[in-house]
Amino acid sequence: MDRILVRGGHPLNGDIHISGAKNAALPLMVATLLTDESLELANIPHLVDISQMAKLLAQFGVELNINGNPKAGSEDGRLLTLTTRNVTSTEAPYDIVRKMRASFLVFGPLLARAGQARVSLPGGCAIGARPVDLHLKALEAMGAEIVLEEGYVSAKAPYGLTGARVAFPFVSVGATENALMAASLARGETVLENVAREPEISDLAECLIAMGAQIEGHGTSTIHVQGQDRLHAAHHRVLPDRIETGTYAMAPAMAGGSVFLKGARVDLIGALLPVLRQAGIHVEETEDGLFVSDKGGRHKAVDIETEPYPGFPTDLQAQFMALMSTAIGTSHIKEVIFENRFMHVPELTRMGADITVDGQMAHVKGVDHLKGAQVMATDLRASVSLVLAAMAAEGETVVNRVYHLDRGFERIEEKLGACGASIERIKE
Ligand code: UD1
Repeated sequence: MDRILVRGGHPLNGDIHISGAKNAALPLMVATLLTDESLELANIPHLVDISQMAKLLAQFGVELNINGNPKAGSEDGRLLTLTTRNVTSTEAPYDIVRKMRASFLVFGPLLARAGQARVSLPGGCAIGARPVDLHLKALEAMGAEIVLEEGYVSAKAPYGLTGARVAFPFVSVGATENALMAASLARGETVLENVAREPEISDLAECLIAMGAQIEGHGTSTIHVQGQDRLHAAHHRVLPDRIETGTYAMAPAMAGGSVFLKGARVDLIGALLPVLRQAGIHVEETEDGLFVSDKGGRHKAVDIETEPYPGFPTDLQAQFMALMSTAIGTSHIKEVIFENRFMHVPELTRMGADITVDGQMAHVKGVDHLKGAQVMATDLRASVSLVLAAMAAEGETVVNRVYHLDRGFERIEEKLGACGASIERIKE
């Protein structure tokens, strides 16, 4: 398994091109299942999760074509064309779903288009139990007959799905996306209440609208969908990755120096900017991106609590903790979205961080400096927090189990290396 070697103490200086958002691209790819015409997606990032989704979709008879070179940093990145003339299979096997929870997003669209679906339950994952009960409740309300057997969810809607009123008990990104896609092809009106407001939901809604869906209210807590008999071809550009943006926005404060995040959309990281400024980091919004620079000296401790969008994203919590580990003062970091998302704590501690966890709360007492160590990536966002910490640390850090990074950060060693970081991949 590949490892990443980072030598700390090299300040950053240069431009980092922000890629298309993984969490937007995955549901957008699934939207191909809703139409027999071609869906063209521009700005698709080059990531393992995208290849996994492509592999899963191919099993249902989706034809996929990829063009363009992400290395060119071109405006449109890679262009992916997906065509699902016929759905040839409706089964999503355990082997793929267990590797990537977003695979469960095919459930609603398969039911809506083909009238049946058999999708493996995702199972537990490193950051908690993460059930799919909300996805199932929404589809059941729309008329699906669902049974759980042998670790699979089997469902039928022989006469198609029917519009319904679904009030989610709490906010779920994936359940909102599943229900939204299914509702686009259901009979009549669907009202989805207490939905996620993440920008990736709006990106999906915009694409569905371009495909002929009638959707209103995306970006707010209630979405209205008037189901259509069929959807059609469309072209859509994936929005920039706000988690990649936020991660690299913290990098200069850790490694020193300054970076320009090209193509970043500042409006998507509204909860992070004031926090960075409070910590004493210089951030400047420009027309085509975000300029971030270290003011020198140690930054200040700031408290955060993760929340659904527009609050502070859980997907930036680990990176922020790495940043706070060298701040002046003690930062209190509360994780409320996932019950077990502090696995980076023991790894940061190995590097000299002073962190104690008490239930949902981590108390991070800033230390003067971190020290390089052997560390283990445990999940996608945790692994990138270790890369950030390594850039700030004295000496060498080896981040093991790098496949987590490859799931969600495009060419990280190239992007940071081009700005002066000493970072290299050790191939096994
Ligand atoms: C998505 C993101 C992930 C991000 C998360 C929260 C993608 C591909 N992934 O994941 O990067 O960390 O949003 O912003 O977009 N839950 C239930 N029952 C359900 C569904 C969810 O109890 O049926 C719980 C989960 O266990 C979790 C919380 O709800 O505690 C939020 O999960 P959810 O918003 O669904 O996250 P994902 O869509 O899986």
